Amino acid sequence: MVVTKVLEITDECDRVKTFRFKLNSDASPGQFVMVWVPGVDEIPMSLSYTGELKGVTVEAVGTTTHSLHKLTIGDRIGIRGPLGNGFVITGRNALVVGGGSGMASLAPLVERLCASGGKVTCVVGARTETEHLFVQRVEETGAEVHCSTDDGSAGHKGPVTSLSKELLSGGGFDQAYACGPELMLLRMVEMCREHEVPLQCSLERYMKCGIGLCGSCQLGSYTVCKDGPVFDSQVLAGIPEFGMYRRAPSGLRVSIG
Ligand SMILES: Cc1cc2nc3c(=O)[nH]c(=O)nc-3n(C[C@H](O)[C@H](O)[C@H](O)COP(=O)(O)OP(=O)(O)OC[C@H]3O[C@@H](n4cnc5c(N)ncnc54)[C@H](O)[C@@H]3O)c2cc1C
Ligand code: FES
Repeated sequence: MVVTKVLEITDECDRVKTFRFKLNSDASPGQFVMVWVPGVDEIPMSLSYTGELKGVTVEAVGTTTHSLHKLTIGDRIGIRGPLGNGFVITGRNALVVGGGSGMASLAPLVERLCASGGKVTCVVGARTETEHLFVQRVEETGAEVHCSTDDGSAGHKGPVTSLSKELLSGGGFDQAYACGPELMLLRMVEMCREHEVPLQCSLERYMKCGIGLCGSCQLGSYTVCKDGPVFDSQVLAGIPEFGMYRRAPSGLRVSIG
């Protein structure tokens, strides 16, 4: 583990802040780090910035994420990683679909895809307008950006998957990427299969070791921390637990939904 100082903190949207820090390791979009908050706990976070000045973008949902939100510039955190596989950059016409804090791992991917000269259409979904994450950041890459909100306060009214369905029906995509709630990912797998577009999804599971040893993040015969967190939709389609069950911190299997 590397202990590093928080160098920048940005309020992104409701309940979400980005923390930037120095980490001298190469990283790819889709990889994650284990972030240790001294005296509290260690939790997995996608890298929302993968350059020399790395970053994590944190939604405050529980004990550790709320403790992270209380940090100030100069405070120390521990970082293990980068861990996991990351997205495979492929195709010339990509659809990128993010729900809520799922945009944290997708924003650096959109930047990488656009920098490599590909055409990118990005759909940013949230419950309401004030929860939209990284809209301006992805607009600045030159990607075509569409927004949706569940309550209709900004962009298309409805789930991010219904806007994605319209875009997929238009045809032309040769690769799709998605990150967000697992039921959204399940729907994306079904829709991309219908339209014969290969899809890579980034998944979340409760994690402890982060390196494939403890089994906390088991998904079928895979561990999300080591074999993932990015999985090809063809692999996911063969895992009965996907979109159905996850493990609670106690190890108990609980329904997703
Ligand atoms: C690979 C990976 C990347 C992630 N990237 C991000 C990110 O970029 N930004 C972000 O805000 N969050 C991300 N998460 C989720 C984040 O790790 C959890 O929200 C965090 O661990 C919650 O810790 P807590 O102590 O604040 O909450 P807790 O008090 O532990 O839990 C609060 C609630 O969140 C649920 N929860 C806890 N951990 C997870 C989990 N791993 N998956 C699903 N539900 C969980 C609990 O069941 C509970 O309902 C990621 C998770 C993984 C596995
Ligand atoms: S967190 Fe231990 S195996 Fe994945």
